[in-house]
Amino acid sequence: MLLTYSILAESVKIRLHQKKISLLDYDESLEFIGEGRSAYVFRIRSTNKAIKVFFPDHVDIAREEAEIYEMLRGISYYPTLYESGRNYLVIDYIEGLTLFECLVQGIPITSDNIKEIDQALLLAKQKGLNPSDIHLRNIFITSEKEIKVIDVARFRQTKKCRQWNDLKSAFYRVYLKRFFPKKIPVSILNFIAALYKRKLIPM
Ligand SMILES: Nc1ncnc2c1ncn2[C@@H]1O[C@H](COP(=O)(O)OP(=O)(O)O)[C@@H](O)[C@H]1O
Ligand SMILES: [Mg+2]
Repeated sequence: MLLTYSILAESVKIRLHQKKISLLDYDESLEFIGEGRSAYVFRIRSTNKAIKVFFPDHVDIAREEAEIYEMLRGISYYPTLYESGRNYLVIDYIEGLTLFECLVQGIPITSDNIKEIDQALLLAKQKGLNPSDIHLRNIFITSEKEIKVIDVARFRQTKKCRQWNDLKSAFYRVYLKRFFPKKIPVSILNFIAALYKRKLIPM
């Protein structure tokens, strides 16, 4: 590799202006693959690695998430951590679709997938962690049909997170029903997520 990970992370120019985040520039060996509420994520071209570069007001999460990936090291359901720095992590690039993308594209999610996710979370619990922030954009079904869970930054929080239990119950009570559409537009999914966040969906 020509550039070090820390130089690649530095090439990512992020602007934070009046609480709005924008991505200004990044090295051409990076391919933009996603963003969340705390970071931009890139694939490092011609490698199987991804670099997660945290927003300027979220850099503190980098160390916390790195420590948690260390605790999960060796569990195949989680990406391996290769390096971390002040504002970035380098982990396995995951080839596949998030559960969110599966719903949008109409790719079926099976009860076996759900059981495997449960197993992934159980293994994290056995390491003393409290899996939190488990939602559709943080879980992948890979092209080999394996489950991968990312974005583990909140796994050490003490507060109980109900999201996964709620998702699971929606899966069995609604998604699996024959009448329920298996392909759902992004706008509807975002609408349901917004209602859920406001506690407007009876669970
Ligand atoms: N290792 C990875 N491989 C492939 N895509 C990824 C990877 N990590 C993150 N992504 C994509 O980037 C998005 C944001 O990453 P995430 O770690 O969840 O950031 P945040 O902490 O801001 O939510 C994910 O929802 C996913 O679509
Ligand atoms: Mg996320």
